[in-house]
Amino acid sequence: STIDWDADAAQKGGYEHYMRKEIHEQPTALRQTLGSRVDVNAGTASLDVDFPKGYLESLEEIQLLAMGTSYYAGQYAATLFESLAGVRATPVMASEYTYTGGRDPWRTLSVAVTQSGETADTLGALREAGAAGARTLGVTNTLGSSVTREADDALFIRAGPEIGVAATKTFASQVSTLALLAIAIGRERGELSAAEARSHLEDLTGLPGAIQQVLDEEARIRETAHEYADSDAFFFVGREYGHPVALEGALKLKEISYDHAEGFAAGELKHGPLALVTDQTPVLAVLTEGSRPQETLNNVAEVQARGAPTIGVTSDDVAASSLTETFDVPDAGIFEPLVANVYFQLFAYHVANAKGRSIDKPRNLAKSVTVE
Ligand code: G6P
Repeated sequence: STIDWDADAAQKGGYEHYMRKEIHEQPTALRQTLGSRVDVNAGTASLDVDFPKGYLESLEEIQLLAMGTSYYAGQYAATLFESLAGVRATPVMASEYTYTGGRDPWRTLSVAVTQSGETADTLGALREAGAAGARTLGVTNTLGSSVTREADDALFIRAGPEIGVAATKTFASQVSTLALLAIAIGRERGELSAAEARSHLEDLTGLPGAIQQVLDEEARIRETAHEYADSDAFFFVGREYGHPVALEGALKLKEISYDHAEGFAAGELKHGPLALVTDQTPVLAVLTEGSRPQETLNNVAEVQARGAPTIGVTSDDVAASSLTETFDVPDAGIFEPLVANVYFQLFAYHVANAKGRSIDKPRNLAKSVTVE
C-alpha cells in the first residue's frame, strides 16, 4: 500500500536501498567511531577498555577471530597491530579455529570482531580461546549482543544500525576502532612515538572527508560499473593493507551481483589465477599508499598483457596512466586502502543494481548467521 511504501522510503532516507544509504553514511559513522576517543594533538587514543596494569606490555600475541567482512577487517587490523604496536597478530577464520589448535594462548588477546555480536562461528571461537586461557575482547556494533556478555571486555564501533545484508559502513568503523587500539597499544609499549601516533590519528580523523570525496565521484564509478557489468568474472588485487580490501571488494561483488569475483594478493596472480585472465575479466587494483603500488603495478602489467581491462584506485603520486580507468583517493596514509574500499562498494552496488538484484537481501544469505 501507499502507506507502507512511504514508511519504507522514509526508513531509507530517500535512497532506493539500505546498502547505498549505508555506504553514504560512512563519513558520519566514522565521526561517531572516532569522535570523543581521539586527541590528535596529544597523540592519544582513549578506548573504553581497562586492561589490567602491565597487561599490554606483556602481551605476546593478538588473534583476530571473525567471519566474512569482519574477517577482512581483522586481517587489516592484524597488519596494523604488527606494524604500529609491535605485537604478533594473526587473523583466524573463526569457523576453523577449532581445527588449527595446538597453540598456547598464554599472553594472548583473542579479539572477536563481529558487527552483530551474534555470529555462531565467531562466538564458538571466542569461547574456545577464553577456555584455553586467553583474555578475550569483543569488537562489535551491537549493544547488549551475545559477544558483549561472553567476552572479558567489549569495544563498540559506534557505526549505527546496519540493515543491508552486505556489510559496508561497519567495515570502515571496525578497522578504525582496531586502529585506535593498535595506536594505544603501540604508545603503551613504546613502539610508536607521539609524532607517529599523531600522524596516524590525523589520517584517521581525515577519513570522513576523504570518503566524502569518493562518494562525490559516484556518477563516474556507476558509469564504469555499467560498462563492465556483463563481464565473465572480476578479479581484485592488492598488497599489504590493499590485500584485505581486494578480498572484501570481491566478497561485496559476489554477494550482491552473483557474479564470479575473486580477490588475490597481487603477487599471487602469476601462481595460478593468471591462467583465468582474458579480455573479459576486469581487474580492479588497490594502488594507494599502504598497498605497495609500484610492486602491484608490476602485477597489473601481467594482466594488461593478456588484454584485461584494468581499473585502479590510486593516490596522487602513483603513475598509473596505462590503466583503463583510474579513481583517485585523497591522502590518508596507511588508511588509503580503506578509502579505496568505498569505490569497490559503489562498484559492486552499481553492477548489482544494473542487473536488478535484490541488493539488501541477496539470495541464500543472512545478515547474522547464528548456526555453525
Ligand atoms: C554474514 C553476513 C556478512 C558478515 C558475516 C559476519 O555472513 O552476511 O555480511 O560479514 O556474517 O557477521 P558479523 O555480524 O559477525 O560481523
